[in-house]
Order: sequence, then C-alpha cells, then structure tokens
Amino acid sequence: MSPEFWLNRWRRSELGWHEDEINRHLAEHWPSLQLPRDARVLVPLCGKSLDMLWLASLGHAVLGVEISPLAAEQFFAENQLQPRVDLLGPFQRYQVDEITLLVGDFFDLGPQQLADISAVYDRASLIALPPETRPRYARALAALLPGGVSSLLITLEYDQSRMKGPPFSVAETEVRALFEPEFEIETLSVFDALAESPRFRARGLDALAERIYRLRRCASMP
Ligand SMILES: C[S@@+](CC[C@H](N)C(=O)[O-])C[C@H]1O[C@@H](n2cnc3c(N)ncnc32)[C@H](O)[C@@H]1O
Repeated sequence: MSPEFWLNRWRRSELGWHEDEINRHLAEHWPSLQLPRDARVLVPLCGKSLDMLWLASLGHAVLGVEISPLAAEQFFAENQLQPRVDLLGPFQRYQVDEITLLVGDFFDLGPQQLADISAVYDRASLIALPPETRPRYARALAALLPGGVSSLLITLEYDQSRMKGPPFSVAETEVRALFEPEFEIETLSVFDALAESPRFRARGLDALAERIYRLRRCASMP
C-alpha cells in the first residue's frame, strides 16, 4: 500500500475502518496495561480515531501519527477542536491540549519523537499494512520504543484467500514472528467479529476473529 493509496482513500472518503464509537476492546482492556494517568501514548496510523479522545480523557498525552492531512483536519473539526499547526522535521504537527497529531509517514519517526512514550495503541494499524511492510513496522517499533513500553494490539484473523486486504489477516504466529523476542506477547482475548461485520460478510468471509494482545517492550541488552 503506497501512501498514495491511503491519501486517495481519504480524498474519496472511503473510510470503512472508521468507528463512530470508542472501540469496545480498548475500553475493556486498556486498564490491564496499568498505566499512570500522565502516560504518553503513541497511536500509529491513527486516522481520525475517536479512541484518541478517550485516551486523552483518561489523562494520557496522545501522539497520533497519520499520513493524510485530511484525517487530521477532520479529526479536529469534527470534534470542535482548534489545533495549533507547525512543522516538526518532516511532519506537520497539530496540537490541542494533550493531543498531538503528526502528519507524515510513520517510517520517518525518529527516537526524539518517541523517547517519552509509555504505551502504544494499535487498532487497524499493523493490519492495514501488507505482508512485506509489516516487518519494517515491527522493526521500527522495536528500535524506537524504550524498554517497558506496553501496547494494546488488535488484529483480525480470517481466511485471506476469501478477501483481499486491507485490512489483512495477521495470525498469532506472525505477530510472534514480528515482535518476539523484543516484545513479550500475551493474548488477552479473542472475539468473534463476524456478526458485527456485514461489510466483510458481503466480501465473502464466513469467519472473522479479532484478537487482542498485550505487548511489552523488553529492556534492551546493554
Ligand atoms: C485502516 S486505517 C486505521 C486508522 C485508525 N487506526 C483507526 O482505527 O481508525 C489506517 C490509517 O493509516 C494511515 N497510514 C497508512 N500508511 C501510513 C504511514 N506510512 N504513515 C502514517 N499513516 C499511514 C492511513 O491514512 C489510514 O488513515
């Protein structure tokens, strides 16, 4: 998926992934990360997810990263927020209170932007990436995140021969191959999502699971 693919999806308002409510798995499982209120949370490939507002409502500072300027503009306008906008290296930075969105390519992030991150929320981010890009994404997170960072990761699992991604099916074996041994990985729950996903049923799926993981970045070896 090239950046152009995603920019076009935003230009055409083809945003089938966007949820009008707070993600149910986030609300259920975020407390298990046991973060302090003021923890700074990275939301990679954030779109205009309302989950960022929910995270901020807990007291967290939120750092979203998103390639489409339309996503940032819609996020702030639709939530009646008026951001300050400036430049930060290769990113356009939008800021309101505790929410910052960096508009640019996730793969341009450097350690200086993520040094004080304590947690990551990945919903529809890893699974938005094609198989050949996922190792690069996992390597970037391992390289950029300090030891001790916790993540909530939500993936989809389905028969990939029945539907083209995105979203892609990413099985537990692949999650482990991507993130171990730099991260400890624990499945928190598996949810049968087919009944609630008529658009995927219409595309040919007869089984669809969401798997929710907790990841923890191990301390780097000296
Ligand atoms: C499937 S959407 C998920 C958005 C969000 N996580 C949510 O749950 O609503 C994937 C998003 O990633 C963005 N994206 C894709 N590639 C990116 C990249 N290299 N850097 C930053 N954002 C990217 C797309 O524009 C799109 O908004």
